[in-house]
Amino acid sequence: MELVRRVHMMREISREARSKGRKIAFVPTMGALHEGHLSLVRRARELGDLVIVSVFVNPTQFGPAEDFSTYPRDLARDTDLCVQEGVDYVFCPEAADMYPDGFRTAIDVEGLSAVLEGASRPGFFRGVATVVAKLFGVVRPHFAFFGQKDAQQALILRRMVRDLNIDVELVIAPTVRHDDGLAMSSRNEYLGAEDRKAATALFHALERARILVQEEDVREGGRVLAAMRELLEAEPRARIDYVALVGTETLESVEHIEGPCLAALAVFVGEVRLIDNMILEPGDGAGRPTSGDAR
Ligand code: PAJ
Repeated sequence: MELVRRVHMMREISREARSKGRKIAFVPTMGALHEGHLSLVRRARELGDLVIVSVFVNPTQFGPAEDFSTYPRDLARDTDLCVQEGVDYVFCPEAADMYPDGFRTAIDVEGLSAVLEGASRPGFFRGVATVVAKLFGVVRPHFAFFGQKDAQQALILRRMVRDLNIDVELVIAPTVRHDDGLAMSSRNEYLGAEDRKAATALFHALERARILVQEEDVREGGRVLAAMRELLEAEPRARIDYVALVGTETLESVEHIEGPCLAALAVFVGEVRLIDNMILEPGDGAGRPTSGDAR
């Protein structure tokens, strides 16, 4: 495993790999790696000849009042994990190398970026789309791996790749959860013991929605939302940012459930903002785990 700190060096490594016909599999991250990230790395290992993981806490996707300065950073631990997983290169550029003086370009995926996370975090998806496009430009992967945990991010990046004819195949992998259902997240590190317990309310709310739609054949979006809210409101340490039921491709509100839809939520547990989601498939009946979940 080699640590690559400079943009021009990463470009050179990718250029050479491509010239030898090697398939590059790329996992972009902000570090503080956990089993969710590692599940992407394992998929990458299966599909690529060369696995590159980026660790870059991207300043442009954090709002002024957000946690950029306190975001967990532990490069030594991240690189150890990457060694264990057989990663070939860890790319961890400096912000000044990614965004040199005079940098002026941004990518906006309109519409899809305005709702849910985009409504709560203005500029977030512009930062994400721009940095991912830049990382693609530097790493030039054949495959890139993203988690369903960030369903809206995955959808927006899919659209960006399509709209800009970027020659990369995106693979979206299921959400990896702790045994009690909490989706793995670098931000879980912020949770104290009591908040960590309370944080399972997110998963319970999504499970409630899944049971209503898949097992009890509820078709009224409003009823599903009300049940999710009720569960979250019963947890005193939780404060809802949003709870939504939307089309999996359009992210538009679903009033009457006819096909697969996405239950998505953002909830503050104490001071920590967590997100989670689940794809609900009506008519499934048997109560199987949904395709968006790895459990
Ligand atoms: P980060 O939050 O570090 O996540 C990196 C990738 O890991 C994302 O694709 C995310 O969806 C995936 N991931 C996180 N938790 C997961 C879980 N529990 N199960 C499965 N996959 C999970 O997302 C970002 O970084 C950034 O926005 C980035 C795309 C790197 C751009 O800066």
